[in-house]
Amino acid sequence: MDKYIINGGRRLYGEVEISGAKNAAVAIIPAALMVDGVCRIENMPQISDTDMLMSIISAFGAQIKVIDRTTVEIDCRSVHNCDAPFEKMRRIRASYYLIGAMLGRFGKAKTTMPGGCNFGVRPIDQHIKGMVAMGAKVEVKNGFVYADAHEGRLHGARIYLDKVSVGATINIMIAAAMAKGKTIIENAAREPHIVDVANFLNSMGADVRGAGTDTIKVNGVERLHGGTYSIIPDQIEAGTYMMAVAATGGEVRINNIIPKHLECISAKLVEMGVEVQELEDALVIRREGPLRPTNVKTLPYPGFPTDMQPQISTALCFAEGTSFVTEGVWDNRYKYVNELRKMGANIEVSGRTAVIEGVPCLTGAPVAACDLRAGAAMVIAGLCARGVTEVEDVHFIERGYEDFVGKLMQLGADISVRRDPEEPERIQLVVV
Ligand code: UD1
Repeated sequence: MDKYIINGGRRLYGEVEISGAKNAAVAIIPAALMVDGVCRIENMPQISDTDMLMSIISAFGAQIKVIDRTTVEIDCRSVHNCDAPFEKMRRIRASYYLIGAMLGRFGKAKTTMPGGCNFGVRPIDQHIKGMVAMGAKVEVKNGFVYADAHEGRLHGARIYLDKVSVGATINIMIAAAMAKGKTIIENAAREPHIVDVANFLNSMGADVRGAGTDTIKVNGVERLHGGTYSIIPDQIEAGTYMMAVAATGGEVRINNIIPKHLECISAKLVEMGVEVQELEDALVIRREGPLRPTNVKTLPYPGFPTDMQPQISTALCFAEGTSFVTEGVWDNRYKYVNELRKMGANIEVSGRTAVIEGVPCLTGAPVAACDLRAGAAMVIAGLCARGVTEVEDVHFIERGYEDFVGKLMQLGADISVRRDPEEPERIQLVVV
């Protein structure tokens, strides 16, 4: 299998450019299915999840033109509701957005139950509750989701989410964009990518208001038209580089970011003794002295993101003292701790809390990327460890980090990729 080989012990210095937000892109690509025109999407991250979704919507008849490295044009004027590539859908969590988009476009959807990273049970009951409230009949059978809108079109509804869910909020917002009448989503999630998807829909003619607050109102429109949209920078990719510099030491300027989206991460780094200098669309992260321990609880935005939990836990392995990290979103997001222990980390997990005793150093070892963010955490551990770390299962990392190895090399890391000729080839979209 493909591996990253890391020779640890180098501090990071220089500048890194942050790509477009994965979690916005993976919703915007399915949402483009509803657009009766050409969507030109800029700042599209080059990661395997977006490649996979574009290949899924091309199977529905979407015409995709790759204009340059970060710009694609998606033309869904001639999409049809057959030939669904179920095997591909099964491999990706965000394929649940196809339910909302296809219901919006065709009044009917058949998708697989979503796959993606496994951090415990990942139900979609709140997505289904929303679609049902909007008049869809939804059935989950043998790993498939069947949804059918009464008389071929959803209608607006008032939906209270029992759980603050990013996916359900976005999915309902997408489906409601072309429903008949007004939809109100209460107890909505407020992540930056929710605002981004709302902005994308609005730039294509939708009427979505209140995204970024806990009440979102969507006035359904008859048609979405084409347009140009630029995806926001990736909060978690930026946070990962921030945590990598905190762990290795050094000084890195992180460019193309929105500092507001990173405030919760910056605040924790300052508590840990890391200098954070905020510029207009960049942050400079500097760490010379020792790392201090801190306590973290992950929460929905604007709380500390669960998708940064493995990375901060890894950085805290090097702090001088004891840190407590509590996972407030997922039931089971500590599988990577066993991998860190192989490198000498001193972490005990009890329920949803990890107790981390800082150690002077970790030792390189063969470790696995258990999921996307856990994989990034293994890379951070490897960058700091004494000796060589081999990270396996890097296909998880490549789902969400554009050119992780290249960007780290540019910062002075000693890291390389060993590709396995037997590994199935990544779907590559070519510039036309
Ligand atoms: C999204 C992100 C993921 C991130 C998570 C939380 C994408 C593609 N993925 O995942 O990286 O970790 O937000 O920030 O954007 N829940 C239910 N019923 C539902 C839906 C969710 O009970 O119908 C629960 C989940 O089990 C979890 C919590 O709600 O405990 C949050 O999940 P949710 O915000 O929906 O996560 P995802 O959208 O799957």
